[in-house]
Amino acid sequence: TKKVLLDCDPGHDDAVAMLLAQGNPELEVVGLSTVGGNQTLAKVTRNALGLATAFSMTDVPIAAGCARPLVRQPQVAPEIHGESGLGGVHLPLPAMTLDRRHGVKLIIDTVMTSDPGGITLVATGPLTNIAMAARLEPRIVERVAEVVLMGGGQHTGNITPVAEFNVHTDPEAAHIVFHEPWPVTMVGLDLTHQALATDEVIADLGAVPGPVTALIMDLFDAFRAAYEHARGFPAPPVHDPCAVAYCIDPSIVETVPVPVDVELGGHLTEGMTVADFRTPPPADCHTRVATTLDVSRFWALVHDALVRVQAG
Ligand code: BDR
Ligand code: CA
Repeated sequence: TKKVLLDCDPGHDDAVAMLLAQGNPELEVVGLSTVGGNQTLAKVTRNALGLATAFSMTDVPIAAGCARPLVRQPQVAPEIHGESGLGGVHLPLPAMTLDRRHGVKLIIDTVMTSDPGGITLVATGPLTNIAMAARLEPRIVERVAEVVLMGGGQHTGNITPVAEFNVHTDPEAAHIVFHEPWPVTMVGLDLTHQALATDEVIADLGAVPGPVTALIMDLFDAFRAAYEHARGFPAPPVHDPCAVAYCIDPSIVETVPVPVDVELGGHLTEGMTVADFRTPPPADCHTRVATTLDVSRFWALVHDALVRVQAG
C-alpha cells in the first residue's frame, strides 16, 4: 500500500477525496491536516472530524493547520460550500479528538519518521501548510515521494478567468510548493472538469446500500445545486478525489512533464498557474500536469470506496 497524508479543507469534494482515500485498499491514510480555505479553519476542521467519524477513519491523526494564507487575506467559498463548509450535510458528532500537534508539525513528523520516499502528500486545499512544512523542515523535500495537488489549471480558471481557488487563495504558498525540487503533480481544473457528477453517476452511487450513502447523496445534492447556481454547471465537477485517484493508479490520470510557475503579481493574472507546454521539457523538470481523466474508471473507484467504507 501507498501511505498518503491528506491536507484538505472539507468542503464537499474534499469529503469525497477522504472517502476515496479511506475506502481504497491501495492507500493507507496516515494523517490528515486541515487548512483554512473553503471555510474558516475551525469549520473545516470540525467537518474533517465529523467526516472521519462517518467514514470509520477514527484511528487517523487529524491536526488543524494554518488558519490563513502566508501573505494574503483569507477568502472563503460559501457560494459553493455553504456557511458550514459542508452545506446540506448532517455530520455525526465526532467520535475522536483532534491531534494536539499543529497540522504543519503533523506533516513534518509523518514524513521524517517514515522511510525516505515513504509518504505521498495529497493537497486539496490552499497550499499554506505544505509550504510552511517545507520551510520549517527543509529535509522533507527530498524525503517525500511526491506532492499531488488539486489546484491551478493549464488553461482554465474558476475564481478568476485564469486562476483556480486553491492557488489563488494562497499563491505565495503555491509558489513555494511548485519551486521546491520534489516531484509535484498538478491535478488542475482542466482535469477535474472532466469529473462531473452526472445524474447517472449519482444514481449509481445512490444504489449502494448503507448509511454513508445517505450522507454522500445529501452532499451531491447540495454541491450540484451550488455549482449550478453559482457557476452555471449542469453537473458539478468533483475536483479533489481526482488527486487521490492519481495516487491510487496513475494510469487513470494522464500526465505530462511540464514546468509550472505561479503568477504572484499580475494585474489580471494573479494566482494563475503558468504551465509551459513547449517541448522538450527541461531536463530538470520536476513537475507534471494532469491532462486526461479515465472518467469511467474514476467513478468506479469512488463507487468501490463507498461500498468498502460502508462495511466499516
Ligand atoms: C477547489 O476549490 C475548492 O472549493 C474545492 O474544494 C477544490 O479543492 C476547486 O477549485
Ligand atoms: Ca478542497
